Amino acid sequence: MTATTPKRRRGRVAEDEIQSKPEWSQIPEHTRHVMLCTGPRCVQRGALPLWKVLRRELLVANRIETTDGVLLTRSHCQFPCNLGPVLTVYPDRCWYRVANAEDAQRLVREHLIEGQPVPDLLLNGQVS
Ligand code: FES
Repeated sequence: MTATTPKRRRGRVAEDEIQSKPEWSQIPEHTRHVMLCTGPRCVQRGALPLWKVLRRELLVANRIETTDGVLLTRSHCQFPCNLGPVLTVYPDRCWYRVANAEDAQRLVREHLIEGQPVPDLLLNGQVS
């Protein structure tokens, strides 16, 4: 058994030991923050392949981390697990169920590019 320092057991390391790049001090450009749940139940419902679809579609449209684009992040459980895969869009306060690649493509095109929420994918009804 190897000895570990108390600070390593707690998962915290000295600031100068943390990997860093200059760009990690900047908040990425974006208009909307999209969080795809990759918690355990959403992953079981197919969330991980949706991440690749979302990212690809946004890259093709040049909408990743641009002033009129999206900060795409993964989250842990957002709580309405039974309704997943769950994806949220802020500041629009839209909660979506994105069930497949076609839903993900529609969401990118209609909401994240054209700016119109996709009513039939919304979990929280029509958002004003
Ligand atoms: S695991 Fe996705 S909402 Fe709970």
